[in-house]
Amino acid sequence: MEKLVVLTGAGISAESGLKTFRDSDGLWEGYNIEDVATPEAWRKNPELVQAFYNERRKNVLDAQPNTAHFALATLEKDFDVTVITQNIDDLHERAGSTNVVHLHGVITRSQSSKNPNLTYSINGWEIKMGEVCELGSQLRAHVVWFGEAVPMIEKAAMICTEAEVFMLVGTSLAVYPAAGLLDYVPDETPKYIVDPKIPAISSVQNLIKVEEKATVGVAKVAEMLRKDLKF
Ligand code: APR
Repeated sequence: MEKLVVLTGAGISAESGLKTFRDSDGLWEGYNIEDVATPEAWRKNPELVQAFYNERRKNVLDAQPNTAHFALATLEKDFDVTVITQNIDDLHERAGSTNVVHLHGVITRSQSSKNPNLTYSINGWEIKMGEVCELGSQLRAHVVWFGEAVPMIEKAAMICTEAEVFMLVGTSLAVYPAAGLLDYVPDETPKYIVDPKIPAISSVQNLIKVEEKATVGVAKVAEMLRKDLKF
């Protein structure tokens, strides 16, 4: 089976009711991203950061995958699919995708504030202040903040070098190193991009633009890919 690599961003979960980062005046749920998603914010006001992510976790648990998530899962019948997501929600997994790389962590798990490799499942929706990891340090959300390392990036880059078909869905490509992954995809690989407001991308070969929201655009691309398979 052909290797299909899909890089997703907040836009794929927008129609599940989860807000994107950069569609509303640079604010995320009323906050500057940097004020709640940095190690400095955690040092200054851990209660605020914890409460912010607890709220985001509640929203994610209440949300349901949409037809774009499901369409990507269904493509596993015809392609060897890897989803690389910048999203911290687990909607790809809940839609049935079996091969998902979370570049920025996943909010349904907690993480030691001393050692990022120590992650745990969470009972319910909340991480409480005073809940500690096995090293005795406060638990926080298992998400990658601005200024922190992105441990999965090398694995993701390697996967991109092997892509025979590539799809980008719902990302503004504003945040590195994720945005740089496109550079690892071979020139000859067809690259479909689904977004109602396609970001400016320069010097990329074989780009096919599908200017639609995710639920419409991913279905269209899936249909094009299946048609190609028949010839
Ligand atoms: N379907 C598809 N795309 C959509 C939809 C939709 N219904 N609605 C909005 N979009 C598009 C926007 O046009 C935009 O290009 O989704 C993109 C969202 O961009 P961002 O908000 O910047 O989200 P993302 O690219 O995922 O952000 C990257 O930034 O803050 C960090 O760590 C966070 O992972 C995140 C990273």
